Amino acid sequence: MSTCRVCDGDVVEFLDLGRQPLSDHFQSEPGLPGEFLYRLAVGVCEACTMVQLMEEVPREKMFHEDYPYYSSGSSVMQKHFEGTARRFLQTELTGQDPFIVEIGSNDGVLLRTIHEAGVRHLGFEPSGKVADVARASGLRVRGDFFEEANAIEVHRSEGFADVIYGANTICHIPYLKSVFRGVDALLAPDGVFVFEDPYLGDILEKRSFDQIYDEHFFFFTARSVQAAAARFGFELIDVERLPVHGGEVRYTIARGGARRPSEALARLIAEEDARGLSDLHRLRRFVAEINDIRDNLVGLLRRLKDEGKTVVAYGATAKSATVTNFCGIGPDLVAWVCDTTPAKQGRLTPGMHIPIRPPDAFAAEPADYALLFAWNHAEEIMAKEQEFRRAGGQWILYVPEVHVAGA
Ligand code: SAM
Ligand code: TMP
Ligand code: ZN
Repeated sequence: MSTCRVCDGDVVEFLDLGRQPLSDHFQSEPGLPGEFLYRLAVGVCEACTMVQLMEEVPREKMFHEDYPYYSSGSSVMQKHFEGTARRFLQTELTGQDPFIVEIGSNDGVLLRTIHEAGVRHLGFEPSGKVADVARASGLRVRGDFFEEANAIEVHRSEGFADVIYGANTICHIPYLKSVFRGVDALLAPDGVFVFEDPYLGDILEKRSFDQIYDEHFFFFTARSVQAAAARFGFELIDVERLPVHGGEVRYTIARGGARRPSEALARLIAEEDARGLSDLHRLRRFVAEINDIRDNLVGLLRRLKDEGKTVVAYGATAKSATVTNFCGIGPDLVAWVCDTTPAKQGRLTPGMHIPIRPPDAFAAEPADYALLFAWNHAEEIMAKEQEFRRAGGQWILYVPEVHVAGA
């Protein structure tokens, strides 16, 4: 049992994925001292239904100078954020001297479009090198974690924000109370707080247990976000399902009573209630499904090894740390992983120490099978790696179940 980070209720554990390394910690050689481990376990709050990790990893261990995730690494995500920025420009940032604050602005993938439109902006980004990439293209980025004290300071010096936005970041922040208090200090009376994160409904449906890792502290639903917002004087007014990153929901929050809740919100809440998304017996079924995936995946990889097939992987994602460490998949089963991120290349995956190589190795040394860790980018990757299939290579996927693509 632990205490809910939103409402102080009791959190009941339903899943234990064991001791895990940091999902974005890529060592340069094996055996270096100090690979940090924590217990990756998930529970649900009996009072407010918020699904959350049982144990918190200190934020500085995850988000620091060398944080290796660059949002612009996917062209699909670049388009997604350009579209999102354009929508804000047309709908919310239309007054005199509008102002948008982004929480977790990373390499500037969203704020670039805002800046080009000449609109006032500020990114909060504690990870040094990714923030520097954004600054190099002229963006205003504050190298801090967003929390109450910093938000109050920004309000003092820059006034109210019309939009506060966070993509794939709010679910990373266990101190959600401080975030809401910060939003309360900084958001204009008629402004909106908008965030998008992996959706528990998609995770259960796709059995994408690899969305569970140190950085993903909360697994939101419309119901749990609605309850959280209400505790801080806000109101969830709209939801939008997004196809990115394996299925997300974009939540739009306004000050209580300021805007009318949408039909889409009522529909999603009804759907969640019908599916029993946060019921313990539903969550326990998910646990049984995860164990099956592990057994089937390891079984397939062992069989391919016995048959003398070569197997590599594609995408050294943070998600794959959970898969490899929970299933016990090391270089004996997957020879290496290819990834486009220079900061990951030449290094080893967390915990299981599979070597990471650049994508030209994928073309130069064709494997029989490629395990697609970056399955959320499947369309983009399969489109650019058509030669792999033409040469007889086959993709292995493990969500919603273990299968060989096209087989
Ligand atoms: N928004 C980008 C996207 O969707 O691609 C980046 C997402 S990345 C997974 C999460 C980012 O949030 C990291 O760059 C991290 O440094 C940043 N971050 C973590 N905690 C934060 C906080 N409290 N305030 C602001 N940024 C934070
Ligand atoms: P993500 O699932 O957290 O977005 O991480 C995707 C990882 O996959 C990231 O390390 C970059 C890598 N990647 C490739 O290697 N090739 C690609 O085409 C794409 C889209 C991502
Ligand atoms: Zn709670």
